[in-house]
Amino acid sequence: MDTQTTTSNHQPPTTNHSPPLLTVTDLHKHYRIGGQDLCVLEGVDMDVRPGEWVAVLGASGSGKSTLLHLIGGLDRPDKGAVTFDGRDIFKLRGGALDRYRNRHVGFVFQSYHLLPELTALENVLTGAMIRSSILGWPARRGEARRRAVALLGRVGLGERMKHRPSKLSGGERQRVAIARALVNEPDVLLADEPTGNLDTETGKQIMELITELHQQGQTIVMVTHDQDIAATADRRLWLREGALEEA
Ligand SMILES: Nc1ncnc2c1ncn2[C@@H]1O[C@H](COP(=O)(O)OP(=O)(O)OP(=O)(O)O)[C@@H](O)[C@H]1O
Ligand SMILES: [Mg+2]
Repeated sequence: MDTQTTTSNHQPPTTNHSPPLLTVTDLHKHYRIGGQDLCVLEGVDMDVRPGEWVAVLGASGSGKSTLLHLIGGLDRPDKGAVTFDGRDIFKLRGGALDRYRNRHVGFVFQSYHLLPELTALENVLTGAMIRSSILGWPARRGEARRRAVALLGRVGLGERMKHRPSKLSGGERQRVAIARALVNEPDVLLADEPTGNLDTETGKQIMELITELHQQGQTIVMVTHDQDIAATADRRLWLREGALEEA
């Protein structure tokens, strides 16, 4: 991939002294399969500062997705903390963890995870619906729709809003997924191999979009095993033997 193109105009900050937006401390996670323990994360530490783009690299099976799911509050660790806004997300009570998942982080997955029976616009709107209470939705729907339409325009799909995923290319589907992840204006965009299912040229276009979002101030944690893609980020961390190291 031609990283020159994606990095054009991009000036990675050399110093970012802001306090971290997100802190991962001593995170441990194991899975038990067939009576055997598989230790995946064995003391992961990381900080993410506002506006920063951090790439997490690592071999297949090293635990990158596991880590991202924990950061997004989609799974629970055996031990350790993910601190957002001064609070450990795993100690949040009631609906507070759901609010964290729905408002503060936005997820993009390698395989898009779009609902096939919904149009591009409706898929983006599902992100906003999840955030809203059932009773509050009618009052919020108009504003959410305006935001979804604007986001689809921003990701270059202004002319494709009524298309279902089956009528969209892989790159277009990933754009819809990115728009859905952004619909609640998350503090952090979590992207798990967002170009993993795309050909080089389409992957490059998605990386250009992610670079643009970063230039507009979006904080991003992106998992990849592609060093060329990771080169675009401000900082690279390697997941090796259950822990993170600066690349
Ligand atoms: N729910 C689960 N139950 C049991 N084992 C799991 C589960 N999820 C992941 N694993 C195992 O944990 C390890 C880490 O998986 P993970 O998906 O986090 O790796 P990864 O670095 O994202 O890999 P890839 O680059 O292939 O996506 C793998 O060995 C995987 O088989
Ligand atoms: Mg993975």
